[in-house]
This record gives sequence, C-alpha cells and structure tokens, in this order.
Amino acid sequence: MNILGIETSCDETAAAVVVDGVDLRSNVIASQAELHSRHGGIVPELASRQHIEAILPVLHTAIEEAAIPWSGIDAIAVTNGPGLAGSLIVGVNAAKGLAAALGVPMIGVNHLEGHVRAAWLADGNPDGKVDGNPGPGTEPPFPLMCLIVSGGHTELVLMRGETDYELIGATRDDAAGEAFDKSARVLGLQYPGGPEIARVARAVPGTKPLPRAWIRGTYDFSFSGLKTALLRRAEEAGIVDRQAAKSSEAREEIIAGLSHELQESIVDVLVRKANAAADEYGCNGIILAGGVAANERLREVLAARATVSVFIPAPILCTDNGAMIAAAAYPRLIRGEVSGYELDVDPGLRIGAAA
Ligand code: KG4
Ligand code: ZN
Repeated sequence: MNILGIETSCDETAAAVVVDGVDLRSNVIASQAELHSRHGGIVPELASRQHIEAILPVLHTAIEEAAIPWSGIDAIAVTNGPGLAGSLIVGVNAAKGLAAALGVPMIGVNHLEGHVRAAWLADGNPDGKVDGNPGPGTEPPFPLMCLIVSGGHTELVLMRGETDYELIGATRDDAAGEAFDKSARVLGLQYPGGPEIARVARAVPGTKPLPRAWIRGTYDFSFSGLKTALLRRAEEAGIVDRQAAKSSEAREEIIAGLSHELQESIVDVLVRKANAAADEYGCNGIILAGGVAANERLREVLAARATVSVFIPAPILCTDNGAMIAAAAYPRLIRGEVSGYELDVDPGLRIGAAA
C-alpha cells in the first residue's frame, strides 16, 4: 500500500511516500526554522502562511522523488492534531483536495502516534547502538514503552498493540524540547535550541550540576524549575546581561558548561523514568520518539542504561516529517479505518488518554 503522508502541525512542511508503513520512498521536509529563529520562537501566523507557500512544491517533490505516479498512491495520511490550528488546516485541506481528486481514502493521524511509528520505518538504527525497528518481519514485541519527547510534549505511553496506546505519564509544565528551547534563549543561542545546546555542550570542571525534578510516585515530568535554575545560574555567572564585563572566551565556557549540565539533567530524568515505567509494566522494549530523540546524548544514555531492547528512529525521522504520518496510518488503514471529508483539525488531540 503506497501511502502519501502529510505533516504541517508546527514549523515543518513535510510530505513523504511510504510503502506498507515501513519502506521509505521519499521524505521531503521544508523547514521554517530560519524564519522563526529571527523571532526567537514560532510565530503561528507566519507558520501558517509559510505552509501555504510550501505545501504544493513539497508534495510534488515527494511524488517525484518516490518515482511513483499520482495514480499509484493508494491513500493519503495527514496530521490533524495536536499542533497549531492554522498550520494543521493547511495540511488537512491539501489532503482532502488530493483524496477527492485521486479518488482514494484519507485518514487523519495523531502527530504523537506518528512520532512513535517512525520507529517502524526501515532505515532506523543508523548507528548500530539500538535494536533496529520493532517490525516488520518479526512480530513487534508488545508491550512497548514509548517515551515521546518533542517541543510540545513529554509523554510516557504504554503500547500494548498496533493501535493500542495508554498514557501513563506526561509533563506537568514545560516539555523537554521546550526546556531546551527556552534555556537556549537564556544562553543567547539560536532557535531551535535543542540542537544548539547539544552542539555547544561540554563538561566544564567546576560547573555544578543542575537539579532534577523526580516527582516521585508518578510517571509525570516537570521541567519548568530546571529552566528557572539555569536562568539563575546564568545570571550569577554574569552572562545574561550583555554589558557584563566577560571576555567572549569566558562566556563561551560558561555557556558550554551550563548547556552540558542542562542536557545531563534532562537526559537523566527521561532515561530513569522510561526505564522504571518499562520495568513496572513488563515491557519488552522502549521506543524513543519525537524531536528531542534526535539528541545524541539521550540516545546513547538510554541505549546504555536500558535492560530491554531500545528502538530509536534515525535522527532525521525523529524531528517532524511526513514519513512517520504515513507509517502511523498504515496499521489503521489495513483495519479499515478512514476519515470522512468532515475531518477537522484538533489542536489539543491527545494520545492514549481516556476520553
Ligand atoms: O517533534 P519536533 O520536531 O516538533 C514538535 O512536535 O514539537 O520536536 C522539536 C523539538 C524542539 O524543541 C527542538 O529543540 C528539539 O525537538 N530537538 C532537540 C534536538 N533536535 C531537535 N533537542 C535536543 N537535542 C537535539 N539534537
Ligand atoms: Zn513533533
């Protein structure tokens, strides 16, 4: 089944063709990061207008690179939530138009389910440190514990079957990606902050560790205190006020050290909670997914500390893309699920939560 996946929930306009939920034929991503970096974060109005400009060229390129004609597309999958309403609308309307024109079914996909199903895409396991992907060829080793970490979400989701998700923990305030992004801003680094923090992070002797919020007895997370602690440390070190008399070398060293401690703190909490949850629920594996899963340190520490198999998509498939949306649509389409033309966007769509 040739599925065209469309993703426009945030600041990436993306489309991809995936065969049978695993075989990636094209994966086109037009990032708006540069546009938003000028404003230090995403401006929803600009994002939505940029999607309108980019969507048709991105779709055409995805079809061209897949070398599959429009008539060879069997279904259209599109993110309909969660995300920014004005951004989601662009993808959903494009999907409706295409489905009508081609006479094929269309299905709305939960963005978070997309992040998880990226682990099924065939070119995962790029560095050999993790266990390939959970399927196909073999029966996926359910139950699996999914740690979804992105700019808007930090969630632990128990996956008992192909489309059976149960939310067991979530952030009570900032998402892990948000903690990276906001802290990067404090340190004067570019948006998106996660890759920047990772790039400059370096252990600097004498830099004290930042706190970890464990919130014991639950699988929930909290990252807003960490951001505040980092701000205080940056102020004490005199790097927030740009007039402060600090040489650029001294500043760089402080930023490198604080970035390292921030990354260590986030990684430590995420890995310990994911392992504890996998253990308590008797899971056979852990899936690490979402934009923050592109973080090298997180990938490395989880793979080293987990006692069960770890599945992590290639970094390019961790950040937002259309392939993961096509991959998530597949198990639902083969069960006969489709969406009608009344499909609406749902900016607050949840995964695995009781209605
Ligand atoms: O999944 P995603 O592309 O978009 C959302 O659905 O939010 O995730 C984006 C988030 C941003 O917060 C970004 O800073 C973070 O993922 N991110 C990273 C890395 N690459 C992206 N965080 C840490 N290390 C990275 N290498
Ligand atoms: Zn995402």
